[in-house]
Amino acid sequence: MTDSNHGDIFNDDHVKPFMPPDEFKNNSQVNDDSLYREAQKDRYAFWNRMADGLDWIQKWDKLIDDGTSPYFKWFINGKLNVSANCLDRHVENGLGNKKALVFEGEQGDSVEFTYTELLKEVCKFSNVLKNLGVNKGDAVTIWMPMVPEAIIAMLACTRIGAIHSVVFGGFSPEALKDRILDSKSKILVTADGAFRRGKTIPMLDSAREELEKCPSIEKVIIIERTGTPYNKKDNRDLLYSELIAEVGENFAPVAMDAEDPLFILYSSGTTGKPKGILHTTGGYLVGVNATFRYVFDHREDDIFWCTADVGWITGHSYIVYGPLSNGTTTFIYEGTPDYPARDRFWELIEKYKITVFYTAPTAIRSFMRWGSHIPAGRDLSSLRLLGSVGEPINPEAWLWYHEHIGKGRCPIVDTWWQTETGMIMITPLPGVTPLKPGSATKPFPGIDADVVDDRGNSTEPGQRGFLVIKSPWPAMLRTLFEDQERYEVTYWKQYPGIYFTGDGAWKDKDGYFWIMGRVDDVLNVSGHRIGTMEVESALVDHPSVAEAAVIGKVHEIKGHAITAFVTLKEGVEGNDELVKELKSHVGKRIGAIARPEDIFFTYELPKTRSGKIMRRLLRDIAEKRELGDVTTLMDPQVVASIKDKYGEK
Ligand code: WT7
Repeated sequence: MTDSNHGDIFNDDHVKPFMPPDEFKNNSQVNDDSLYREAQKDRYAFWNRMADGLDWIQKWDKLIDDGTSPYFKWFINGKLNVSANCLDRHVENGLGNKKALVFEGEQGDSVEFTYTELLKEVCKFSNVLKNLGVNKGDAVTIWMPMVPEAIIAMLACTRIGAIHSVVFGGFSPEALKDRILDSKSKILVTADGAFRRGKTIPMLDSAREELEKCPSIEKVIIIERTGTPYNKKDNRDLLYSELIAEVGENFAPVAMDAEDPLFILYSSGTTGKPKGILHTTGGYLVGVNATFRYVFDHREDDIFWCTADVGWITGHSYIVYGPLSNGTTTFIYEGTPDYPARDRFWELIEKYKITVFYTAPTAIRSFMRWGSHIPAGRDLSSLRLLGSVGEPINPEAWLWYHEHIGKGRCPIVDTWWQTETGMIMITPLPGVTPLKPGSATKPFPGIDADVVDDRGNSTEPGQRGFLVIKSPWPAMLRTLFEDQERYEVTYWKQYPGIYFTGDGAWKDKDGYFWIMGRVDDVLNVSGHRIGTMEVESALVDHPSVAEAAVIGKVHEIKGHAITAFVTLKEGVEGNDELVKELKSHVGKRIGAIARPEDIFFTYELPKTRSGKIMRRLLRDIAEKRELGDVTTLMDPQVVASIKDKYGEK
């Protein structure tokens, strides 16, 4: 932990809460404190009731096994299938003709699937996977643009009981390779290319070399999205369109144990190697099903749009599993908000009559900068509820979102959670909770969150501390894939028996949580998690680089901008050319989201006498602050020299 600012006192006396509008409150799933009271009385009875709402093939004998902390098990001996809960049961309940998935492509093309149609597509792809030898427990990697086939592939995996590992389509082929090697996937589902702002970006062809280094991959299934040329590899590469033309339209869902793995999702941590966060079947589905229903106030005629990519946890939980397990219509869009014009999102809301819209603060800040006249040109009257996720939302952005998108009518749910938590953890219930702009408000019913000091004692109102979760919850990660030690050290060592989130926070006198961001060496760039060490390792593996330190500099739109301080090998000259080369090198190693915004060359990095890099000082320099404590520095000259250089910029 790098934080030392204890004792700070915060207050929110200036904040005037926004009450749920009557019209919203009167029609909402919950409009009183009944869920909170129920969960407070008996957290486990509450989760038991939530789980009862799903279809189980065999009911659990015991709700939770917490005797082996931190390896918790939920719904012991329960059997269910996730795709059957997301598809079959709605068809059986008469929702077969309801739209399940609505897609719009960047080019304006559109496809819709009813629940019956989506079930059919998922069954077909399950047959394809099965015919290729995929069985329960096998890993399948999905590296795709935002197209319906990505979701069909995920659901097909769950139908068979295969473990999916979705890799964000914007990650580089090298990052893809690392994740394939770690998960030992047999199959890769990918595309010829992706559309990006009117251009096409090759996918499969760009990954050709890296895939040669992945011995576990037996077959590559290709969705031809863009017509981008690629060399088809005999005996390995197969076309999605041809495969599904040859198979049957039925596939019986496999009964999975509640604790069977459902998916792995890689996320950055404090080392160079991403963590394979493992979620299991029953608890995850119960968690995302219940949170979706109450946080987004599920209504039968909703058209729900979460703007995340399916490659992130937000996409897994609130594009796919939360909405579909509730029988909602989930909308996805392939492109970016600014192409072909900056009103693209508002055009889509108008066209599809989106009712609930869930996006990230970084996007909201961009919209704000582009100007409120842009959304004003579109009819947004279908909207009734807005959401925010990924980083703390600054009150200014919250108020803009409330006024210019929600027109003062729509509550905003600011939802705090993580890849690890699987489900939303701290959030308003929109028909119940008075909102304070900038606060994620209160723990969801059944969630035992707190802010504690170094010793694990609850902090006083206004006192900064660390955000922890004190009791298990159903959608919690179960471990890190093949790395139990890292699982224990990262989350459970700080406070034995208590889950450590890695976030700083404080609570106000009303018990509202105010999240202050990461306290470890993890950056939040446009709502995405990037480890400083990950970028540092990418830099250091360039032949010219001796050492690198990466920090997040506060950035108006992105939250953090990646700034790197680099020392070069003897005889290498640090010039603009090299800056460019290093940026693209990081892009190649990890992906465009990890490219440093700025790179500075320095003859040495500031280190303690024991050799630990003092990133705190680099942050002070980058943000042009008074330097903090420098007494532990090995070579005080270094800081002066970096400061000089930085000042030149
Ligand atoms: C980290 C998790 C699961 C959401 C997508 C990011 C930050 C997330 C909020 C919020 C303040 C937030 C935290 C958290 N974060 N939502 N509403 N308010 N901070 O998932 O990549 O696993 O990152 O995002 O720092 O630890 P992730």
